[in-house]
Amino acid sequence: DALEELDCYALIEKLPTDVRHILDVAGRVGDELNKNVYVVGGFVRDLVLQQHNFDIDIVIEGDGIAFAQAVNEKLRGEITLYHQFGTALISLDNGQELDIVSARREYYEYPAALPKVEKSTIWSDLFRRDFTINCLALQLNKKNKGLLLDYFAGLEDIKEKKIRVLYNLSFVEDPTRIFRAIRFASRLGFEIEGETHGFIQQAIKDHMIEKLSDDRVREELKLILQEKSVCRSLLLLENYKVFQVLHKDLRIDNDTLEKIRCLDDTIERFNEIFYQPVNRLQIVLMQLLTNFPTEGLEGVINKFATQSLVKLVQPSLTNKGSLYKLLQEEDLDKFALYQALKPLKLEEMIFYYNDCNDPYIQHYLMFYTLKLRDVNCEICGEDLKAIGIKPGPIYKKILDEVLRAKVKGLVYSRDDELNYAMKALEKLRGE
Ligand code: CTP
Repeated sequence: DALEELDCYALIEKLPTDVRHILDVAGRVGDELNKNVYVVGGFVRDLVLQQHNFDIDIVIEGDGIAFAQAVNEKLRGEITLYHQFGTALISLDNGQELDIVSARREYYEYPAALPKVEKSTIWSDLFRRDFTINCLALQLNKKNKGLLLDYFAGLEDIKEKKIRVLYNLSFVEDPTRIFRAIRFASRLGFEIEGETHGFIQQAIKDHMIEKLSDDRVREELKLILQEKSVCRSLLLLENYKVFQVLHKDLRIDNDTLEKIRCLDDTIERFNEIFYQPVNRLQIVLMQLLTNFPTEGLEGVINKFATQSLVKLVQPSLTNKGSLYKLLQEEDLDKFALYQALKPLKLEEMIFYYNDCNDPYIQHYLMFYTLKLRDVNCEICGEDLKAIGIKPGPIYKKILDEVLRAKVKGLVYSRDDELNYAMKALEKLRGE
């Protein structure tokens, strides 16, 4: 009901000062050029939902390039012009980005009618978009500041929590919208409205996803996997049988879903120990493909990730079996544990901890993380030289022995290490 009394002007006034400033500047430049200017799309949707979204998309009913240049004179960011499309991107020092597009100039109300230029351009710009909730526009010119254009009942759909396309060929014209519908439904907790649901099913049946390049599919999947609501999206993708389209053997089972559901808690747990950012996408991907047979892994990871990410994900999945086997051994030696886990990246530790389903393995992973991960030899070859040991391959053997003793808790200080090194030397000479 709050939507009925929606006062967009007041919502704009509540935005952070720097965002308000950008909107003000855009409105003023629009006034100076005597053109209508709107902020559109996700920004307006999220403003209405009172959620943060500071990616600003501006539509100008006029020359986007000239407008962008005039705006940037005042904002002094970095501007990139795309003359061919009449669009521009302004990046500000604080990381804020401003996308500017020219509304398509002409719109014919009916065949052979004179083009309605001023009043209609924003309409036709909005009409080409994906979902009603993304088709709201807010005017920025001083005279009409905060005026909400809602040609396609987007506000109603926000209220009813519905994802709805504007026309029946929307998914055929742009099949990436299948992924977008799923992503927005999951993120916002909205439902894909009945007819739209039917259009998605039909588009999938008509092989529209196969028409997209691998790159575009990967980009959409990446956006889905990066969201907090990834589980809901995966379930929808499974229900629409999208995974089967991507790879005939790919299914998302309940075990996988359950593990992905726990993942953010596991990441948080490790974050409290490491205080270090992790590549969540990498971990989600490992977890997503954990039950996929190793033999066919390469073919399927490629659908989700670019080569650099594949290189990170694939070995962790392939090595999983042997690592779990080692960590299930009874009376596992501390040094063997140390050697097995030392090479792992934080992302792999988190993944194995979340994935293994075995409290013993989890115990070992946590024990290593808390007690062993920082254990290193203090002494080095120079120290061995200083106490008169002749350089050679024996150095490595001695230092390995010292490290083993240190991991086992047999030596603590640097002096301990040096004494132990002498003992190790005698032992090795005796062998
Ligand atoms: N859009 C579209 N069809 C697409 C991609 C984008 O119609 N395949 C339109 C939508 O109206 C969208 C706008 O372009 O609102 C901007 O796209 P994007 O930045 O991807 O969407 P946001 O809604 O801003 O999404 P997000 O909140 O994830 O940034």
